[in-house]
Amino acid sequence: MAVLDRQHYIESLPASKRLADATPLAVTDATSMSEIDDYLVSRHDDFEADLCELLRIPSISADSAHADDVRRAANWVHDHLQALGLTTELIETAGHPLVFAQSEQIPGKPTALVYGHYDVQPPDPLDEWVSPPFEPTVRDGNIYARGATDDKGQMLTHIKSAEAWMKTVGQLPLNVKYLIEGEEEVGSQSLGTFLTEHAARLACDCVVISDTCQFGPGRPAITYGLRGIAYYELLLKGPQQDLHSGSFGGAITNPANVLARLLAEIVDGEGRVQLPGFYDAVVPLTPREREGYQAMAFDDEGFLAQVGVDGAIGESGYSTLERRWARPSYDINGLWSGYQGEGAKTVLPARAGAKFSFRLVPNQTPEQVTAALREFLEPRLPPGITMELKDFHGSPGVLVSLESPYIEAAASAIEHGFGTAPLYIREGGSIPIVTSFAEHLGADVLLLGWGLSDDNTHSPNEKFCLADFHRGTKASAQLWAELAKICG
Ligand code: BES
Ligand code: MN
Ligand code: MN
Repeated sequence: MAVLDRQHYIESLPASKRLADATPLAVTDATSMSEIDDYLVSRHDDFEADLCELLRIPSISADSAHADDVRRAANWVHDHLQALGLTTELIETAGHPLVFAQSEQIPGKPTALVYGHYDVQPPDPLDEWVSPPFEPTVRDGNIYARGATDDKGQMLTHIKSAEAWMKTVGQLPLNVKYLIEGEEEVGSQSLGTFLTEHAARLACDCVVISDTCQFGPGRPAITYGLRGIAYYELLLKGPQQDLHSGSFGGAITNPANVLARLLAEIVDGEGRVQLPGFYDAVVPLTPREREGYQAMAFDDEGFLAQVGVDGAIGESGYSTLERRWARPSYDINGLWSGYQGEGAKTVLPARAGAKFSFRLVPNQTPEQVTAALREFLEPRLPPGITMELKDFHGSPGVLVSLESPYIEAAASAIEHGFGTAPLYIREGGSIPIVTSFAEHLGADVLLLGWGLSDDNTHSPNEKFCLADFHRGTKASAQLWAELAKICG
């Protein structure tokens, strides 16, 4: 079958990036693994109860009113890691604290760094939740709560897997470090700073992250590409105060009219972003990738039905998977101006604003996009309008190497946990710190997603499939065994 497999991807890499020989893997110690698997099964209920406890903490990083809750979640993770017998530290930052933990060092064994986040997105709109966002509730084998899949549930699998090793074998078979942050959902600024200053503390051979999705139910995946992001807020200012649209309309420039025009002009009818040079750095999809994605037989109709629309548009010449995973995109994220209340008010507003962002692919950078955006907007501003452009968080897109013994180990672990080999996919979302890990730590990044694309991340009724929670934990426990076979 011509699905995208690791070999396809490796063949598309330049020869300089390929390994001569993959490190051979020894056979797993079957006895201790089955003991560990039994332990995991015996603890299912307790693990779910612990997950519920963490999900009850409304650790919304974007909302300063919840700063104490964010800290409570940090402490919860810290105490949990400490209870396993790891050396732990709560690291203060300019923003939310980092949780760091480390197992006892075993010389000659590789070091894995687990990264995850304990912060969550705001839960609004609240009235669309079937059960309240911070009262975890199980329905049909899924646990519903903000953060269930993104990322508390997924992150916890790598802590519970360590517990299984500690409680059965008495120690982990390799060196594991944990770095769990509280600002992922707001751009990972404090961690970015910490990483440049303390890279040595985080030294590792590979980074393990579960903050992505499977390809579909029962189709686990290793993600080898994420999109980046460039996020902006644009404010247009017109007259010094709101005006009567009858007395002034048609003679005075309306900032809302201008905003609507400018925002619309950023993309053309073919779905192509119009900023100068926007596509110059874009790494095109390889023929192998295009064939591979085609063979994955993505269910376009089911996808549209899932979000409740009867059709969609996007960049011409690309499939839905290509558009979501490997092509840049542009979305308005918020829009305001004029009268929002009941009934009609004939007003020519003094201000208009918007938040919008571009998803970037390798090798586009937020800096290039910012420069191009200014170059695009400035000459288009009509008389009577000034603009303020705020530049928020940004990160470039990433492709991680699949040509690595660590990926091999992860694939075996996933097969053990989920009963089937993983697919190799990309995802459209962003994990800003991944690029920095690759750059500063020189380590391979393993993106092992246990979520599902209909988990409602950032939306009402976020959920995580409990069977996947347990399968992910089983895969993680096996991962420690598989990684331990590689020389450190
Ligand atoms: N877990 C997501 C990233 C993700 C989303 C990966 C979907 C794969 C599929 C992460 O928590 C997230 O939401 N990231 C933000 C980053 C932003 C706030 C800088 C995103 O992608 O919007
Ligand atoms: Mn996440
Ligand atoms: Mn998120």
